[in-house]
Parts: sequence; structure tokens; C-alpha cells
Amino acid sequence: MLYRSLLRPLLFKLPPETAHELALHALSHGLGTGLLRRLAGAQTSFAGLRRFGLSFKNPVGVAAGFDKNGLVAPQLAALGFGFVEVGTVTNLPQPGNPRPRLFRLPLDRALVNRQGFNNEGAAALARRLQGSRPDCVLGVNIGKSRAVPIEEATSDYLASFETVRPHADYVTVNVSSPNTPGLRELQRGDLLTELLGALQRRNRELAEKENGRPVPLLVKVAPDLGAGELELIIDAARAAEVAGIIAANTTVSRDGLLTDSQTVAACGEGGLSGAPLRERSTRLVAALRRLTRGALEIVGVGGIFDAEDAWEKICAGAGLVQLYTGFVYSGPGVARRINEGLAALLERHGLRTLDEAVGCRAEEFAPL
Ligand SMILES: Cc1cc2nc3c(=O)[nH]c(=O)nc-3n(C[C@H](O)[C@H](O)[C@H](O)COP(=O)(O)O)c2cc1C
Repeated sequence: MLYRSLLRPLLFKLPPETAHELALHALSHGLGTGLLRRLAGAQTSFAGLRRFGLSFKNPVGVAAGFDKNGLVAPQLAALGFGFVEVGTVTNLPQPGNPRPRLFRLPLDRALVNRQGFNNEGAAALARRLQGSRPDCVLGVNIGKSRAVPIEEATSDYLASFETVRPHADYVTVNVSSPNTPGLRELQRGDLLTELLGALQRRNRELAEKENGRPVPLLVKVAPDLGAGELELIIDAARAAEVAGIIAANTTVSRDGLLTDSQTVAACGEGGLSGAPLRERSTRLVAALRRLTRGALEIVGVGGIFDAEDAWEKICAGAGLVQLYTGFVYSGPGVARRINEGLAALLERHGLRTLDEAVGCRAEEFAPL
């Protein structure tokens, strides 16, 4: 409440990326994890929540892009998130696109961004994570360096993977950002099979050498896919035996917005996130669930602001959920509120565990 009535109006007076940097700065410098934990209040716990071999305190995570350089993962855990996905990082550090590259559409509770993987690089992230592990599951999201041609993408991803792997509980292969030219080509069946296969082979080789276990690999897909494309992605994911699919990244569509078209056009190109993405991403989650019949873990992301939104994704087939835009609009108490609400929804439906709800309504959502 305090966030929406007091803090958000102040932050929204600033350019969006400045507000974001200010929030990261406040989290990393001003506020200790102990204080944040006290401010966030008592956390709902979900006993026995296991996904791809990892234990989660709760199913609500921070989506990639919020903490690209891994500056505030412990603070995000203290705010009640069950997992944090840092990145996208690329093997080569890169500045991203020129500013402005992030825009708010408050009427639609949405954002448009074309940041273009601005990040300090995989090695800088690895160094930082060595010194500060969050008290929750930590994912690292890797993407292709802009300077590397698409034909050499595999070796570029492999280099990032090797750098971040020792610090990650899971690694996400991002092939779906709309802001790196040609990146989404990698979602094509043949290219994706090669990329995921190469990463999984290296993953297993390294684990064997260290007498350890391979890290779970996930692949993050775009919401702008047809049913045929989706089937090829699932084939590639299963061939490489990845642990799961994150659905979805931002959309290039501008359909159904309440904001006037001039304002939308003024934002220019980029990926749209937030409320307008909700239904599209839920339908993708449901389609994935129907096609995989539970063989792959699904992480639902897109337009989650409250417990009802998270519940919809879970009932469609998501074993875990993530949010970015909902965090910007709803503030630092969002994870706690969603988790409380999810526990209440479980009780209301007479269910004992979240697993009983996962995919229970997958058949009800419209096809893609
Ligand atoms: C400003 C911004 C930057 C983002 N950067 C990344 C990124 O670097 N890597 C990635 O995989 N997704 C990125 N995303 C996409 C989010 O992780 C998420 O998939 C998408 O925003 C939909 O969720 P939401 O509606 O909760 O925001 C970004 C989103 C936003 C708004």
C-alpha cells in the first residue's frame, strides 16, 4: 500500500531506467537483508516444493532482466522470492541499445523495453556471485553476445555457460529476446537442437570430471510462437533432456492495448511485458503442458501481478512462476502477498500441495 500510494508515484516521475537503477542502488547499498526480511514480514512456506531436483521455499521468482548483473539477489530473496534468475548475461560485456530503451504504459500496467542485453558480462557476474549467494534458488540466464554472428552462437553460449555454471543452481538458455537481432532464429528446431545439445553435452562432461551432477538447463521461449513451432521446440528440448521451459519472454505484439496508439508508437520497437501479455503467456503454458504431459517442468511468466494471476498460470501447467513488470507496479511486498494468496487458494480448493494444482485446468485454455 505504502508503495503504491507513496513510493511508486515518486519513482514514476523519473525516467523508467533511472527509477530502476535507483531501486537497485537502494537495495544493494541502503537496505540490509535482515532489515528487508523484517519489513517483508512473515513468509508463507510451501513444504516439499521440489522442481528439477532443487528445493524451493515458494514458487514465486524474479524473472530475468531485473537484476542483470547479480547485484541484489540476496536482497530479493529477503523480500520473499523463492528464486531469483539473474542475467541475461552475455560472454562479452556490452552496453546495450542507446537510451531511452525502457518505457511505461501505466494504463495497461505494461512496460516496453529494447535494452538489448546491457550487462557487465558473464565473468563479472561469476565474480560477484562468488561473494554473495542468495538464501534461495539462484538461476543464471545466458544470451548471445551481440557482436557474435548467429552462426557462432553455440560457442558463445558455451563460453558463458562454463563461466556461470559453478555459481548457478540452474541455467536458462535465452533464445527469445526480441532485442538482439536474429536471436529468436535460434528457436528454430534444427538450430535449437544443436545449441541445447551442445550445452547439455558440455554440462555432463564437466559434471563427470568433477564427480558432481549436471546443472538443470532451462530454455526460455517467446510468446509469439505458433503451435507448429512449439512442437519443434519441445522436440529439441526433449532431445537435449533439458529440465524445463520458461514461458514466456516479452511479446513483439501490440494488440489489445488501452493506451492510445500514438503513445505506443512513440515507444518504438521492443518487447511488451505486463498485463497485456498475461493471457497469451498462460495459453502458451497450457499448450506446453498439454503437449508435454508433465514430462518437462514449465515456468510461467507474463503479466503476473497478484495471487490470482499466479494461480491461473499454475492451473494452466506452471510448476513455478516468475514476474518482472508486476514487481515494478506492485512493489517490494508482491512476493509475500502472492505466496499468502496462493496458500489461501490451496485451502479454498481443498488441496494440500501446490503439485495437486499444477496443470489441473490445462485443457480449458484456448489453443495458440
Ligand atoms: C525491462 C525488462 C528487461 C528484461 N530483460 C530480460 C533479459 O535480460 N532476459 C530475459 O530472459 N528476459 C528479460 N525480460 C523479460 C522478463 O524476464 C519476462 O519474461 C517478461 O517481462 C514477462 O514477464 P512480466 O510480464 O512479469 O514482466 C525483461 C523484461 C523487462 C520488462
